[in-house]
Amino acid sequence: MRDPWPRIGVGAMPLSRTLYHSSEELASRTAVLHAAFDAGFTVVDTADVYAPSAETVGHNERIVGEAVRTWSGGRDSLFVLTKNGLRREGDHWWRDNSRDWMLTAAERSADALGFTPDCTAVHRLNREQSWDECVLALCEARDTGLTGSIGLSNVTADELRRAWQVSEGSVVVVENEHSPRRRDDQAVIDFCGEHGITYLPWSPLGGGNEAAALGDIYPAFALIAAAHDTTAQVVALAWLAALGQRVIPVPGFSRVETVHASAAAQRVQLTPHEVATLSAVAPGAGSVFPD
Ligand SMILES: NC(=O)c1ccc[n+]([C@@H]2O[C@H](COP(=O)([O-])OP(=O)(O)OC[C@H]3O[C@@H](n4cnc5c(N)ncnc54)[C@H](OP(=O)(O)O)[C@@H]3O)[C@@H](O)[C@H]2O)c1
Repeated sequence: MRDPWPRIGVGAMPLSRTLYHSSEELASRTAVLHAAFDAGFTVVDTADVYAPSAETVGHNERIVGEAVRTWSGGRDSLFVLTKNGLRREGDHWWRDNSRDWMLTAAERSADALGFTPDCTAVHRLNREQSWDECVLALCEARDTGLTGSIGLSNVTADELRRAWQVSEGSVVVVENEHSPRRRDDQAVIDFCGEHGITYLPWSPLGGGNEAAALGDIYPAFALIAAAHDTTAQVVALAWLAALGQRVIPVPGFSRVETVHASAAAQRVQLTPHEVATLSAVAPGAGSVFPD
């Protein structure tokens, strides 16, 4: 697919906390993504449901689409991943992995982006629906040109193994939570490494609530950061990127300043001992979302 992959990607979710009301406000959000792309964060993660309300589903994909179209580096330098399989109505969210919904949503995502994404992943699994049907629907979306390749998000190792079989070994991306706050995903990371699947750890800084205080919550990250003359956030990104050749954390940004502050993560080289030390730190409270 994309080789070499970047060391760090970008998650666009924080750019859809609120509506934008003018082309200037839209431009200030695409500027954050442009800064990320310029910094070399050329894998971008979005989803249909990243939107301020149920009525504005596709909001984040529209921002990403605009940022990709207007970036000077060109569409071909970027890898755009979107996710489907969650639905919203009013305040109600639910999971729909049926073939009909996955194909409808894939079509809507391509419309919202304004181009075919490089990859479409199932966002959240409805474990009362057929997993095989969902994986085959993703393959159908790819084979009919609605997306470039298929991905999975929030899967267990068993679900990944089954999807690998059903898709005849064509899963390209897995996006699961792995960060200082949560590290119970080694079996999935290992499977991805063995099969050449790109692994995107989401909320790599522990999400909007933990990110700023990461070094206080996990002092080992601050200690190692001091040794490298950098920040705990940069060390967390460098640590995740060091977990495998194609492990690419996707931090979220709402400001250009935090993009610039994170760019050093591409250059920081942790020693194997430092990586092991950080991997051994006790995890935090875990995910704020149900699996
Ligand atoms: N697949 C899934 O189910 C799933 C679930 C959740 C998230 N995601 C993806 O993962 C991406 C990242 O998750 P997230 O945005 O929740 O959490 P995160 O990346 O762990 O944290 C985001 C926060 O980190 C701050 N930040 C970034 N770099 C920093 C630095 N160098 N120093 C200090 N603060 C820094 C940002 O601040 P500013 O806002 O001030 O820039 C932002 O508020 C999302 O955008 C989304 O694409 C996927």
